[in-house]
Amino acid sequence: MPQHDNRYQVRKAAVDSILQDRSESPENCATAFAPVNIALCKYWGKRDPILNLPVTSSLSVSLPPLGSTTEIRIGADRDDVTLNDEPITPQSAFASRVVDFLDLFRTARDLRFSVRTTNTVPTAAGLASSASGFAALTLALDRLFGWDLPPKQLSILARLGSGSASRSVARGFVEWHAGSATHGADSFAEALACTWPDLRVGVIDVDFGRKSQSSREAMQRTVDTSALYHSWAQKVADDLAEIRSALHAHDFERLGAAAESNALGMHATMLGARPPILYWLPGTVKAIHRVHQMREDGINVYLTIDAGPNVKILFTKNDMSAVQAAFPGLTVIAPFDPECPTLPTDSD
Ligand code: PMV
Repeated sequence: MPQHDNRYQVRKAAVDSILQDRSESPENCATAFAPVNIALCKYWGKRDPILNLPVTSSLSVSLPPLGSTTEIRIGADRDDVTLNDEPITPQSAFASRVVDFLDLFRTARDLRFSVRTTNTVPTAAGLASSASGFAALTLALDRLFGWDLPPKQLSILARLGSGSASRSVARGFVEWHAGSATHGADSFAEALACTWPDLRVGVIDVDFGRKSQSSREAMQRTVDTSALYHSWAQKVADDLAEIRSALHAHDFERLGAAAESNALGMHATMLGARPPILYWLPGTVKAIHRVHQMREDGINVYLTIDAGPNVKILFTKNDMSAVQAAFPGLTVIAPFDPECPTLPTDSD
């Protein structure tokens, strides 16, 4: 274990402050599910890259049943990680990130873990699974050790795996409070008390296969080099206030407009980085134009884009057929409607 490593020590202290009062009664095996989430107001930039403490707050919507189911087992003589039934080589970046996280939870007995994760995100859905993956792993660890932690503390632990994972331990609309403490005890996500049964989220396949630059690197370069980043905190404060107010008023146009403006603003900060970061492909721009044309034609559809080329659209149940006609093969998710299928529609 990397006990002399400063990064490890800082993260371990954050974990210990949460687990200090907890008694452990480990099971041999535990399983948990956590949903994918998509930010309507983005997290872009860390004030502390070791503890994944964000510069600003952010707000997302969870997209179950898309997400990760993770089983964790103790008793093996070495760590092993399986993803979608494929064993993952310990040298891979994926396995290292998981093991690095697990290092924080080995007790005095120096436990080894077997982790099996299955993503119910269709492999090609273009939705980042690190958020659901680290949230599911955190929830599974909580069950494995019998800690029974409250949601706030689960969110803090998941944040140490991936910033956006802090939002995937909760369901529905979720706000991650940036906090200001250096140790991060006030930087956690919590569910908002509102739902939107008619809300639909569509995922447009621009390029699902592309291996793009990691959000971790891109975020840091933006913070370090982009002059446009100086305006980002104020933009997030304005957009968050607008999104909270639109949720409260159940005003879809205001919600969509603020979410779209926030996503485009995030990409503008990346374009200002040196060297610049551009995740968009020709298909991204085509989808943006199509969404804008639809709005001109009177259909209330808005877009958001994360650290990749794929476009996600926000609309309501009423406009389902118009949206499906414009984007054949769209994967549609109904975050608050368990009755609605989440499979791709007929492919073109
Ligand atoms: O948690 P990370 O390191 O995967 O970063 C997520 C960054 C965005 O997806 C672009 C924005 C967000 O708030 O989820």
